[in-house]
Amino acid sequence: MSLLAREPGISEQVAGLGAEWLPEERLSRHTSLAVGGPADIIRVHDVHRLAELGGYLRRRGVPWRILGGGSNLLVVDEGLPDVLLHLARGEAMAFAGNHVEVPAAANLGTAVLECAKRNLGGMEGLIGVPGTVGGALRMNAGAYGTEIGDVVRALTLFHGATGLTETVKSESVRFEYRHSSFSPDDVMLSVTLELPNSPYAVILERIKQYNQKRRASQPIHERSAGCIFKNPSGHSTGKMIDELGLKGTRLGGAVVSERHANFIVNRYQATATDILKLMDLIRERILKAYGLELEEEVIVWKG
Ligand code: EPU
Repeated sequence: MSLLAREPGISEQVAGLGAEWLPEERLSRHTSLAVGGPADIIRVHDVHRLAELGGYLRRRGVPWRILGGGSNLLVVDEGLPDVLLHLARGEAMAFAGNHVEVPAAANLGTAVLECAKRNLGGMEGLIGVPGTVGGALRMNAGAYGTEIGDVVRALTLFHGATGLTETVKSESVRFEYRHSSFSPDDVMLSVTLELPNSPYAVILERIKQYNQKRRASQPIHERSAGCIFKNPSGHSTGKMIDELGLKGTRLGGAVVSERHANFIVNRYQATATDILKLMDLIRERILKAYGLELEEEVIVWKG
């Protein structure tokens, strides 16, 4: 339970700020891994009032985090004392020539397809990456040689620390392998992408191929958070875990996927603790065998 939940009349006050109060939501319902205890969520319907909402939380000393699509997130079983801000799907995408402005709350796959319909390509590789555009930007999501950072031209951000909204050019952001230079309290509001022209049929054909590749090599029908560890430079984590014979290793309800060894799947009603323990086991085995320290790719939220 957050500090805010202890105050009376929260629902009405939050509604008055263009948002919705959802207390004690089980985060297992908001994450693709389907684990995680309770936290209070504020669903933001009017992003133009974020500064007021931020001020309201700051005055009460209530810490907050931003919850995106929950597809790269592992939340502990105890839940979180912070309020989670969740942007409701807002405005439509706005197209102008080779540029498109996409709301951060938009689904990434939907954005790729909407661009394709307007003969705008360059994002085909990202088609099977789940989650929101905002989450993809924060992680600089990538697949099959494409990273979202490559096509970003400008971003509109709400800075939690200052309460100011600012539009920045891509040159002032560092996009690296599964990492960006945004600060944790930067809330992405929208992004302008610049995409090359490509016929719809050609884009669709590429999308089909990437979907096939992904289906063949990743457990897309099981509950996971995608790859659980980053690839150390020059190494493939999946290959190393596979070589150690760890596929199929089960701890509680969590299993190392037989399809891709860098995926942990929640097959038997796993807890977050099961998954964290399985991650520790993998980390230890890789360190012993290869002398490499694995870095988490999944974002872990502890209280
Ligand atoms: N491999 C194995 N066994 C496995 C898995 C992989 O031997 O169980 C081998 C493959 O045969 C291949 C090599 O390892 O020779 C690399 O595998 P893959 O092509 O699947 O790529 P990856 O490096 O494991 C990365 C990203 C994925 C992304 C794919 C496709 C990371 C940590 N992972 O995986 O991203 O979808 O490339 O581009 O960078 C994610 O971000 O969550 C994610 C899944």
